Amino acid sequence: MSRLAGKVALVTGGSAGLGAAICTRFANAGADVWVADLDPPVDAGQYIKTDVSDRDQLEAAFLKALKIAGRIDLLVSNAAIQPHGITLDDTTPELLDRVFKVNTHAVFYGLQLAGCYMARGGSVINTSSFVGKIGVPNCPSYAASKAAVDHLTRVGAIELASKGIRVNAVAPGLVMTPAVTGIPDNPEIGFMHARIPMGRIPSPDEIAPVFEFLASDEASFVTGAVIPVDGGVAAGWKEYELKPPTWWK
Ligand SMILES: NC(=O)c1ccc[n+]([C@@H]2O[C@H](COP(=O)([O-])OP(=O)(O)OC[C@H]3O[C@@H](n4cnc5c(N)ncnc54)[C@H](O)[C@@H]3O)[C@@H](O)[C@H]2O)c1
Repeated sequence: MSRLAGKVALVTGGSAGLGAAICTRFANAGADVWVADLDPPVDAGQYIKTDVSDRDQLEAAFLKALKIAGRIDLLVSNAAIQPHGITLDDTTPELLDRVFKVNTHAVFYGLQLAGCYMARGGSVINTSSFVGKIGVPNCPSYAASKAAVDHLTRVGAIELASKGIRVNAVAPGLVMTPAVTGIPDNPEIGFMHARIPMGRIPSPDEIAPVFEFLASDEASFVTGAVIPVDGGVAAGWKEYELKPPTWWK
């Protein structure tokens, strides 16, 4: 497959989990892939140490990839922190600021920098989450940060269309990444398993192909879209016990 041949990609949060699967997928499709992350990738990919919440660091990552690779065609704004299990009451101002800086400000900066440095025909793909669409308790900062990502995707698509850059988002449901599997006895896994209409929890490899499609020229008229890749969980519940009315036989 060489669907992304000749394209240069910058992937934030590309060292682990979903970001790493996206990098592998893009590289296998022929892209020249650069990882911007706090930590280096496990395989020795092209890596730029970056804290995406710092606009100067993110811009420096763009400039470094641009200088060496000569162009940037694809930006995946994927890095995020996921503080679940923290109620509205327990969310401190510091936590709220940190979550928004990493998860939302970085996406905003990515759109600004894409407008400055990306080639015409480019594609920005933001990683959202099902919790940006449906309400869930005990992760208000994370959920709100992802709802903001959805809307930034729409307004970014409108503003960058004149520069020939498409902007879309992928909204996964629960995915088996270190952020999820690293929590001992994580109750979210059983809870979600029982509710996802398709009845299973995917690996990152089942999410990454949708990023590849959005990055490719096959998605040339797709912009402003937030695509759920969640086994149906944002569409509704798997089970809902209901009794027919008495007039129904
Ligand atoms: N795993 C899930 O169930 C799930 C569900 C829906 C959405 N998502 C989203 O998918 C994306 C990837 O999640 P994941 O589960 O693979 O996460 P992960 O924690 O496994 O990996 C996140 C990566 O981002 C990097 N990172 C964190 N903060 C950073 C910063 N300030 N600057 C640069 N890099 C930073 C980490 O070093 C790590 O490599 C996130 O946007 C997350 O919100 C995940």
